[in-house]
Amino acid sequence: MNVVTLIGSLRAGSHNRQLAEATAALLPAGSHVANVDFSTLPFYSEELDVEGQTPASVQKLRQEIAAADAVIVATPEYNGSLPGGLKNAIDWASRPYGRGSLVGMPALVVGASMSPYAAKWARGDAVRALGVAGAKPIDDTIGLGSSHEFLGADKALPEETLEALRAGVASLVAAVEQANLQAA
Ligand SMILES: Cc1cc2nc3c(=O)[nH]c(=O)nc-3n(C[C@H](O)[C@H](O)[C@H](O)COP(=O)(O)O)c2cc1C
Repeated sequence: MNVVTLIGSLRAGSHNRQLAEATAALLPAGSHVANVDFSTLPFYSEELDVEGQTPASVQKLRQEIAAADAVIVATPEYNGSLPGGLKNAIDWASRPYGRGSLVGMPALVVGASMSPYAAKWARGDAVRALGVAGAKPIDDTIGLGSSHEFLGADKALPEETLEALRAGVASLVAAVEQANLQAA
């Protein structure tokens, strides 16, 4: 499977980056995983979104997502929602309307926060935005609260989180297989 990750935190030591990596590690053997860097995208503007003239960073984002079988979105919670940079990437990937690179794309949303709330609102908002963008997000998201206790040197994810991640990845794989069957 060819999977791309979209990670809502840009900081090097991001817990969400680590959670995305732990999720990707559970994909079937032989899967190819690449991270989509959306940090250089301009803010979405319909004036920049002119077919054949979109900025190179936008073309790259759209091509990388379109070439994937599925996406894994890892989001922290910023002020009760998903970070603006991640939302901006979803907005760019949602267009051209009805033909965006996210259309029909199976997506798994995970989220880590240092608070006990496990980025619950951000995960919910990510599922909603992905769905409106035309993607096929798995309804069940996976959250990790108090993430500093479980991520980092000499630490390990709780067994219940690993179990939820395994189930989420299995749902993602099943959604990709279903999409491939429908396309055949
Ligand atoms: C601008 C900003 C807003 C935040 N708002 C929330 C919030 O609403 N709820 C919450 O639980 N944590 C909030 N946090 C804490 C982040 O969830 C926490 O820093 C998280 O670990 C960041 O993810 P990362 O480790 O992947 O960078 C906020 C952090 C920042 C920088």
